[in-house]
Amino acid sequence: MKTIQSVRGMNDIEGAEAFFFQRLINLIEELFGRYQFELLILPIVEKTELFSRGIGGATDIVEKEMYTFTDRNEESLSLRPEGTAGCVRACLERGLIHNQIRKFWYYGPMFRHERPQKGRYRQFYQVGAEIFGIPTPDVEAETLSMLAKLWELLRIQNHLTLEINTIGTLEERKIYRQKLINYLKGHFEALDEDSKRRLETNPLRILDSKDSNTQAILENAPKLMECLGEGSRSHFEKLTCYLDALKISYRLNPKLVRGLDYYCHTVFEWTTDLLGSQATVCGGGRYDGLVAELGGQATQAFGFALGLERLMLITEQAGFKAERKTPIAYLMTDETNLAAVIALAMQLRDNDIHVALNCGGGSFKAQLKRAEKSEARFRITLKEANEIALTDLNNHHAPEQILSFNELIKVLGYG
Ligand code: HAM
Repeated sequence: MKTIQSVRGMNDIEGAEAFFFQRLINLIEELFGRYQFELLILPIVEKTELFSRGIGGATDIVEKEMYTFTDRNEESLSLRPEGTAGCVRACLERGLIHNQIRKFWYYGPMFRHERPQKGRYRQFYQVGAEIFGIPTPDVEAETLSMLAKLWELLRIQNHLTLEINTIGTLEERKIYRQKLINYLKGHFEALDEDSKRRLETNPLRILDSKDSNTQAILENAPKLMECLGEGSRSHFEKLTCYLDALKISYRLNPKLVRGLDYYCHTVFEWTTDLLGSQATVCGGGRYDGLVAELGGQATQAFGFALGLERLMLITEQAGFKAERKTPIAYLMTDETNLAAVIALAMQLRDNDIHVALNCGGGSFKAQLKRAEKSEARFRITLKEANEIALTDLNNHHAPEQILSFNELIKVLGYG
């Protein structure tokens, strides 16, 4: 019978990759914990309206990329394309952010129907973090410094560039939006097709068009910075001062607007030189309007999400080798002492010693082959009267040693 393939753009993660994935999550959990982020576990499916209202109906994500379906109750549901909207929904539903400062992190699969290529998938994993209740840029600098620390721990800091911009308040953006539309209308015919379409729906996204003609037209377009008031400018200036003082280097990118509608003031992306066109590893910003947009009381918010596959790709390319943990010892068995060997393996594992146990029987020779394949350094057999015999598989001249349990732990613990 024909085997069934996975869905295009939705991949299995196995072996050393899976091991690395889990280690990354553990490292991130530990680091974010030091910054008082609490883990939030969110559903993968939400009502479609959450995303169209939260992310914006005219964004690529909502317009073209969502996995939306009607369930058996005729309700329109979607696989989450990102985590922020769901996080805000959960916070409102559970009363977690009412008049208080809270910091959450989450991780898990997200779904976008994009054209798959290296670093871009239809199911991909994000780690995200959201902070509620802080209006000032200090929290932005602190969060960016946490991310800089993560890159440093993974030894990829030299491959990542922080790009930042401010897009001001909604009102300031409205004024700018109109100025931009007026200017671009004068060059309408020369715009690329996507930008023509976006002119009425989402003109700010034209700023990061990849088309060279459109980019040339944008050279003389009005600048968003010119429409910002004193409050927005000083917020952003403070952030850049903090980053300078923290020695976190960044590039000001006035064209950075991000692909989701909820942002205001600070937006940022960490991009890499190692991933070709899928260069953004992490993105985020401030979104002071989203909580109210989703029905809550106005609450300031700031957050980011990073793509785990992209992070793994660049960490590996930068030289980090993801290795699966091999057992230190392989325990061989025969039918007469099976229970004693299982009990010994359990005792060793209780002492944090990583061992493999021969299951499935087999001759001495067959078991030895499996021991070698397991890459364990030692082999253990039980002699009569349950004496423990240890053999060094890396040194065939070393004699077999008969050890007490405590002696065994010492040898394996240092192995
Ligand atoms: P985003 O920029 O859409 O932001 O996604 C964040 C990251 O997810 C990207 O930088 C990228 O690494 C990864 N990513 C996105 N799409 C794909 C894909 N198709 N395949 C692989 N990786 C992908 C957000 O999602 C916002 N919720 C971030 C945020 C949180 N802003 C405030 N709080």
